[in-house]
Amino acid sequence: MSDQAHSLRTPIVAVLGHVDHGKTSLLDKIRGSAVSDGEAGAITQHIGATAVPLDTISEMAGSLVQPSDFDLPGLLFIDTPGHHSFSTLRARGGALADIAILVVDVNDGFQPQTEEAIDILQRTGTPFVVAANKVDTTPGWNPVEDSPIKPSYDGQSDAARSRLDENLYELIGQLSDRDFSADFYWRVQNFRNNIGVVPCSALTGEGVPDILAVLMGLSQRFMKAEMEIDVEGPGEGTVLEVKDQQGFGATLDVVVYDGIIREGDTIVVGASNEPIVTEVRALLQPRPNAEIRVEKQFEQVDSVGAAAGVKIAAPDLDNAIAGAPVRVVRDRPEEDVVEEVKAELAEIEVGTEEEGVVVKADTLGSLEAMANALQEAEIPILRAEVGDIAPRDVAVAGTAREAENKAILGFNVDVLPNAERELEQAEVRLFSDDVIYQLVEEYDEYVEEMKR
Ligand code: GTP
Ligand code: MG
Repeated sequence: MSDQAHSLRTPIVAVLGHVDHGKTSLLDKIRGSAVSDGEAGAITQHIGATAVPLDTISEMAGSLVQPSDFDLPGLLFIDTPGHHSFSTLRARGGALADIAILVVDVNDGFQPQTEEAIDILQRTGTPFVVAANKVDTTPGWNPVEDSPIKPSYDGQSDAARSRLDENLYELIGQLSDRDFSADFYWRVQNFRNNIGVVPCSALTGEGVPDILAVLMGLSQRFMKAEMEIDVEGPGEGTVLEVKDQQGFGATLDVVVYDGIIREGDTIVVGASNEPIVTEVRALLQPRPNAEIRVEKQFEQVDSVGAAAGVKIAAPDLDNAIAGAPVRVVRDRPEEDVVEEVKAELAEIEVGTEEEGVVVKADTLGSLEAMANALQEAEIPILRAEVGDIAPRDVAVAGTAREAENKAILGFNVDVLPNAERELEQAEVRLFSDDVIYQLVEEYDEYVEEMKR
């Protein structure tokens, strides 16, 4: 790693896509190949995030990535499990991820969560590459393990290749319907104007070197200016999840995207009411290569620098919310940092009206995405909040004047047991879904039905 690399932040790569299209498998492939190469120590498995150093990437990508061509430290991948809304991934008014991989099953093509991912990538202007996954399931496919895709593709029978081409052209057409000019990645000259589609298999590893090469190229060319940050400055991050951890109470899973967080630092965290001001008791990272979502043993570290995933243990975190900002105070006046966090939360705050529906969502990011979708559909919002559906929400929804507005739209949230009873009694309709546009559609249909 050159000296210059130390002043450059690791680019953050979000892995997005529809349920079961292979996001985790692709990451497993990237992690696993590194482990089988005896590089377990070089890979750091963070909270919801995997840091892969440049040397490992270049080893996996072979001739496609020459380490001497790059001065980035590596890539930090963030997996977005199916149940979890990736719209949580926001930072300072923009996207937390610098670049993204949109994973699409070549046989399935665009699906609801693919559409939703595209919406967010479009809105945030995040550069991305499309991983056209599961090419190994093409009838007659002859796999070439871990190979770059071009030689493997060229070596297939005409029948297999034309079957795959059919699916790939369909995918390219679907991208163009969404105003993205896309093509097979090896034909793309200018990745600024065109989306590269990489045929690949998370199972056989074909095309994975190419994905890494495109990601490195995208980061190097478009991200460098933003990567040159003060890696020693006060840490800034985004809460991915608020979780109870045995022995620590409520803890935060955070992606640090700027500066450094140290044990003992005073931090300000966005919460459901006033921002929380607290002191970091412990910084916890899972053991290298352990599966994050089942990991129980954590290693305590003194400090964590951008970009990285870390679990923060501190007092009073119960009211923290997913998607909220985390800021280290360090040498600044505490009030200034509190104001900064408040300003950022206000930016996400959803415009409400005197008459409308009640909206509940699992994270700030998804609440914002919901509000955008409702605004586009010209559905007014009376109240919008992060959290499960509580009796109070039913009461508020019941105060709407118009019958069609006596409704709660819940995205990725549960109904609290006592609210369930209230819902039965009050004349309030509940709509809940984990795909935003389906939720809006369901509600629209209901209103149409009422007007008939
Ligand atoms: P969620 O996290 O639930 O959204 O799913 P995901 O996108 O992470 O998908 P996951 O990686 O869990 O893969 C879903 C299924 O597809 C698993 O059974 C994988 O083994 C399979 N799969 C993933 N990639 C490939 C591939 O390239 N080829 C084949 N044949 N199967 C794959
Ligand atoms: Mg997954």
